[in-house]
Formats: sequence, structure tokens, C-alpha cells
Amino acid sequence: MGRGSETLYWVEEGRIPDARRLRIKRAQKEAGCPPLIWRETSAEQIVLEAAAVLRAGGLVAFPTETVYGLGASALDESAVQAIFVAKRRPADNPLIAHIAEYGQMEQLCGHVPSLAGKLAERFWPGPISILVPALPTLPLQLTAGLPQVAVRMPRHDLARRLIARTGVPIAAPSANLSGRPSPTEAEHVVADLGGRIAGIVDGGPCQVGIESTVVEIVEGTVVILRPGRISKEEIEAAGFHARYDEGSRSGDKPRSPGQKYRHYAPRAPLYLICGTDPTAVREELLRRVDEARARGLRAAALLSGPGPRPDADLVIALSESGDAGEAASLLYGALRACDDADMSIVLVEGFGRQEGAVALMNRLGKAAEDRVIFV
Ligand code: TXA
Ligand code: MG
Repeated sequence: MGRGSETLYWVEEGRIPDARRLRIKRAQKEAGCPPLIWRETSAEQIVLEAAAVLRAGGLVAFPTETVYGLGASALDESAVQAIFVAKRRPADNPLIAHIAEYGQMEQLCGHVPSLAGKLAERFWPGPISILVPALPTLPLQLTAGLPQVAVRMPRHDLARRLIARTGVPIAAPSANLSGRPSPTEAEHVVADLGGRIAGIVDGGPCQVGIESTVVEIVEGTVVILRPGRISKEEIEAAGFHARYDEGSRSGDKPRSPGQKYRHYAPRAPLYLICGTDPTAVREELLRRVDEARARGLRAAALLSGPGPRPDADLVIALSESGDAGEAASLLYGALRACDDADMSIVLVEGFGRQEGAVALMNRLGKAAEDRVIFV
């Protein structure tokens, strides 16, 4: 499928500043897709229209508190199949089913194991996806044939209203082309999927900025398959036993198929500079920026705290104060900015061991692959 189909673009009336409107139009032109069909109307009307498209088997990208999702009816086999085509997603990577209220679990899972139920009660709506036994009637591609289905109830109001109005669970991976950074603004979705999907709901920037924590319950323990905004410490503080999945670290056979793919990456090679002394990390970054530019490369520097400013072609402060949550919310936009500005090398400062940095470092590690420098 090319980029030739018409994509509806819903945005709340009076909610879109002119500068953002221009950025969206530029993204559309650069993507080479037909002009978007603008629908500026009330939130009520947006939910109504987008739900109708979803019910008819169409693909609609929508905002959640983590990243934008590419939605389709989770119970409609051909709609689910269309997600894989639009994203160019490998068929062995299952999707997360999104629900608006707990009662919708019935449509996905026969009996909810008690620990999964307790976890949901504590953290939903919110950025955590929980694996539960899948009903055998679900589309095969939703779970990639695995016995469990991942379920999440997002906290984002517009997302929940859209799912509720559609009346079925909504399958939604991140709304990017496979291998690209997840979209945290509607214009990122236009860049990747404009002309390839039926519609995009613009809800402004996503708050959290990285994808949900994915967990599985194994013998009374919450096993974290993908770290996210809800940390191991937070799960433990709520009275659960929790641990990270070893497979996802050693890389032999991750329990979450998505963990084995290179993700979250800009086009230019990304180098991650790590260390316990922020001054030494900054010094190494400055040195590498100068070295890259001396070789004629266009270098981007992504900073994780205060300190001397590098003389790079593009400098982005993920956080001025070293706050991992703030950095997470800006990370994917920054990686896309590196592509847009045609960088040939991206140098990023890592975050220390503070709580909340695990998910961020997981994503940075994947973007860097083996290009990690310890100082
Ligand atoms: O925050 C999020 O989770 C976003 C928003 C849109 O909700 N969605 C998202 O979906 O990140 P996606 O498809 O990009 O990532 C889903 C992850 C993948 O790593 C996948 O392998 C894993 O969840 N997953 C889904 N179903 C699974 C299953 N049945 N067993 C193991 N892992 C599963
Ligand atoms: Mg994804």
C-alpha cells in the first residue's frame, strides 16, 4: 500500500495554533501524501466520526498519554491485518488491545486471573499493559498466535471516549512506521502514515512520551517485559512482587516479541555516552562532537542536564535539570528532529541510576544498539 489514500485529520475547533498547523501541512507535503481532509469540530463530533470509521474496519491514529496509537477494531480480523500492512510491522509482533472500561475485558479474556485484576485495579487507567489469557476467538494476528493478549486502559480522556463510543476493544500499536521512533505528536503520525490510513485524531503532544510498561504475571510475580513510565519500584510499592524479564535483557528469546527489534532509532547512527560522573560525560560528549565536526559530519547533541554547551549543528536539551521523566517526554520528538535536520551522527548523554530512568535508558540503548560508550 502506498501513500495515495485520503486521510481525515480531526482537530478540536480553536485548539490548533497557526505554527502547528503549518508544521502539519509541511509534514504532509514532505511525506508526499495527498492533502489531508481537515475536520475542525467539537471533541464530541470527533469521537463520533472517528468511532464510525473504526467500526467500519478503518484505521484511525489517536492520542494516548504515552504515544499516539494506530487503532483498529481488535475483534475484526481484516482491520487488525491492515495495521500490520500500514506500519510494515513484522507479523510475529503482537498488538496491545485498548479498553475504555473494565467490563470490556470480557471481550478479550474469559477469566481474568486475580493478580492481573488487582494490578489493573491499582494502575488503570494508566500506562501499563497487562498480559491475560486470550479468548480463542480473537484474530490470530492480534496475539501473533501467542496464548495471551496484552490489554491496557489508557488514561487519556479522548482515547477512552473514542474506545467507549466504538464499543469494541481497539488494537493499537504505536502509530509509526516499524523501526521509526514512536509518535508523540500528531505531525509525527502524518510524516509516517499520512495517505496510508483513514484518519488521524490530533490531541496535541503526549504527556509521558514513551510506551507503556508491558507486564506478565508468572507464578505470583509481576514480570516486566518492557519497562515504561510505571516502574518496578512503583509496582512493588503497591504490594506486588516484581522483576525484569531476563530474556529481554540477554536477548536470546524475549517473552515480548517487540523487544527483539531495533526500535526508536533516528536514521543517523546514535552514540550513547554513559557514566556516573555527569562532568566526565559532558566532556566526552564535547570531545566527540568536535571530533565528528572536524571530520565534516553534521553532529547533533542531546543533553541530559546542565553544563557547558557543545558546538554542535543541533543541540537539544532533553532536560535542563537531569529529570528522566521530562527527558522521556521529549526523546522521540528529538530523535525525529535529528532526521529532519539531516544529522549524520547523534550523540546522547545517558541518565544515571535515578528511579524513572530505566525505561528511558532502555529506549536509548535500543536506539544505540552496540554504540554505547562508558566513561
Ligand atoms: O503505550 C503503549 O503501549 C502504546 C500506546 C499506543 O498504547 N502502544 C504500543 O504498542 O507501544 P506497540 O505495538 O508499539 O508495542 C507493544 C509491545 C510489543 O513489544 C509487543 O511485542 C508486546 O507489547 N506485546 C503485545 N502483546 C503481547 C503478547 N501477547 N505477549 C508478549 N508481548 C506482547
Ligand atoms: Mg511500537
